[in-house]
Amino acid sequence: MTAEAAPGNADVGVGLAGLEHHGDADLVPGLTDLAVNVRSTGTPGWLAARICGTDLAAYPDQRTAVEAAGEVLLTAGAAEAFVLLARVLRPRHAVVVHPQFTEPEAALRAAGHEVDRVVLPFPFALDPALIPADADLVFVGNPTNPTSVVHQRAVLLELVRPGRLVVVDEAFADCVTGEPESVAAQADLDGLVVIRSLTKTWGLAGLRVGYVLAAPDVVALLAAAQPLWPVSAPALTACVATASDPALREVQAWARALARERGHLLACLADLDLAAVVPDASASFVLFDTGIADVRTRLHRRGFAVRRGETFPGLMPGWIRVAVRDTPTSDRFAAALREVINHA
Ligand SMILES: Cc1ncc(COP(=O)(O)O)c(C=O)c1O
Repeated sequence: MTAEAAPGNADVGVGLAGLEHHGDADLVPGLTDLAVNVRSTGTPGWLAARICGTDLAAYPDQRTAVEAAGEVLLTAGAAEAFVLLARVLRPRHAVVVHPQFTEPEAALRAAGHEVDRVVLPFPFALDPALIPADADLVFVGNPTNPTSVVHQRAVLLELVRPGRLVVVDEAFADCVTGEPESVAAQADLDGLVVIRSLTKTWGLAGLRVGYVLAAPDVVALLAAAQPLWPVSAPALTACVATASDPALREVQAWARALARERGHLLACLADLDLAAVVPDASASFVLFDTGIADVRTRLHRRGFAVRRGETFPGLMPGWIRVAVRDTPTSDRFAAALREVINHA
């Protein structure tokens, strides 16, 4: 696909099977991993030590974690939140804004709901006018995986209206210093559901922990659908530990370092002859169109695994998502990609 992707409502891109594809499936043993977007340096040592110190003999007690995280519903990652929402809500017209993480749509379909796709055109900025007026459930990512676009808070809030629930997946919100576009701090959450995750920032994909912020009636509905002890004691330890002031400062420093490295990667890409690069990337990855359908296999031969774009509705072969790593890795990757482009 070129930069002029099909705008508006369209069922383009992949079939349902593609919704199940995730970045870890694009990993290739032995290659430099630019496919997975979880913190590449792993769980910080101090946090791993705290988690390992958890008493495993007792049943999990959420009280301290809920106090630390605020009035929230703790979940086994954002993934559980998508499934809970899909199972308890009865939307008449559910809309998923794409390209975005495919699990919200997969969960809705698995629960028997029809899903209307709104596929944003390049450069993938959210346009409220594209959302059907009668949509009563809208899923949007912010910042969005895989585009790395951060939508403005004011634009997201424009989507909220009586009779509609707007679900904002903020799994990557920590990537943006100060989180100016997050709706998590919104005093009035009526009509809003915010999903957060500890997976990406803290390198905790294996622990399964996240949380939902929503109006009390929505939280109660979701909680009623959870099993007993839905979040493990080590996951609760992580919630408490990452809500501390030093941890919050660490996140800010991480986001600033990420921004520097992302700037370097984007500068490297600007020197290459690419069909399109999503501007103003805000998360821990960048998305671009190489215009080369078999770019991934060509990169494999040069030692790099990247996330394919075409399993995201709205993207075609040639689009790839590349994780932000350190400067030497980005330099090596840019050199490899230049060779791929020159020999295509
Ligand atoms: C945008 C987005 N939201 C949510 C998730 C899942 O997060 P969790 O590990 O908390 O289930 C992912 C994982 O790739 C993601 O990319």
